[in-house]
Amino acid sequence: MAPVTHKPLLATVLGQRQERPPIWIMRQAGRYLPEYRQTRAQTGGFLELCYTPELAVEVTLQPLRRFDLDAAILFSDILVIPDALGQSVRFATGEGPLLDPLDEKGIDGLDRDRAIAHLAPVFETLRRLRAALPPEKTLIGFCGAPWTVATYMLGGRGSPDQWAARRFALEHPQAFDRLIDILVDTSIDYLAAQFEAGADVVQLFESWALNLDDASFFRQVMDPNRRIVEGLRQRVPDAPVIGFPRGAAGNLRRFSEATGVNALGIDFATPIDFVNAHLPPELAVQGNLDPLRLVVGGEAMERQARAIIEGFANRPHIFNLGHGIVPETPIAHVERLVELVKGG
Ligand code: CP3
Repeated sequence: MAPVTHKPLLATVLGQRQERPPIWIMRQAGRYLPEYRQTRAQTGGFLELCYTPELAVEVTLQPLRRFDLDAAILFSDILVIPDALGQSVRFATGEGPLLDPLDEKGIDGLDRDRAIAHLAPVFETLRRLRAALPPEKTLIGFCGAPWTVATYMLGGRGSPDQWAARRFALEHPQAFDRLIDILVDTSIDYLAAQFEAGADVVQLFESWALNLDDASFFRQVMDPNRRIVEGLRQRVPDAPVIGFPRGAAGNLRRFSEATGVNALGIDFATPIDFVNAHLPPELAVQGNLDPLRLVVGGEAMERQARAIIEGFANRPHIFNLGHGIVPETPIAHVERLVELVKGG
């Protein structure tokens, strides 16, 4: 089969298995890197870092200077969308994101007209990255999927069970649906502009696809992801998309069929044989090492990394973690993991 592209990671997303799985690491730019902490300390706030192309390009490229990764992921955050819509978003050190929680009136006050102009620096970052990256590297853009972004907008912060947002969705169904509509439309504009600026593929982070019954999963996760993929492909034909419905469990196959994503991110709690039994062998998957194994390293990491490579040997596979890398991860363990995946 002739290669569809000479970028191994993008080719895998498009369904062409590579001899060794290409690798990127979820949240690969960030606080486990001393050079990131240094850039961050020299910058006013986290959002300023996201909106200053010179600095965002620098921190995007930092992990690629250290490790032989197959992709760069745009340095930004899923919460630039609420910020762009006019909701107050702050990143307090050590506390994670803090937002002024939205009520029904707040939803009506969101300003979609200003959002894409507000995000112009992100597109400039992508254009500069496109020019800076070697041709074999894949450039990944992203946004948060609507439900995950809504959990922060309605709850005001991260929460283990997304209680505030789940309750709001049931108690105020019309206002909730209006919020999801705004997020779907804004995300389509945002991702289409990311492709125009040079992204090869985008990932939809649905980090909180957990804790939902069938009807809520359909309404809050599956349908908004489907509408984004469909709307995006009307603007960017055949746009390659990676879905990541973390915690979708028994709903994985339904999610992949309904949304039409090219590749599916697999969280680390999902068994490899379950994936192979329920997802068609031509569908690309991405994952799924527990980030904790990367913290611990040694046999705890290497045994499972090998099991993942073998387990996904008969389908297109992108090696990744099953959720984001954590700040206490030793750099030597990341070096070893990349070496192992590349065949060492
Ligand atoms: O290389 C990269 O992936 C960097 C780009 C990136 C960031 N956030 C930078 C960031 C990406 C792709 C994200 C995604 C993101 N952000 C998600 C989805 C992935 C996931 O982990 O589930 C979510 C839920 C968020 C929201 C968010 N942003 C949280 C909960 C936090 C605080 C805790 C944490 O993970 O650090 C952030 C802040 C944030 N986003 C940091 C970085 C590097 C740390 C900010 C700092 O420097 O203080």
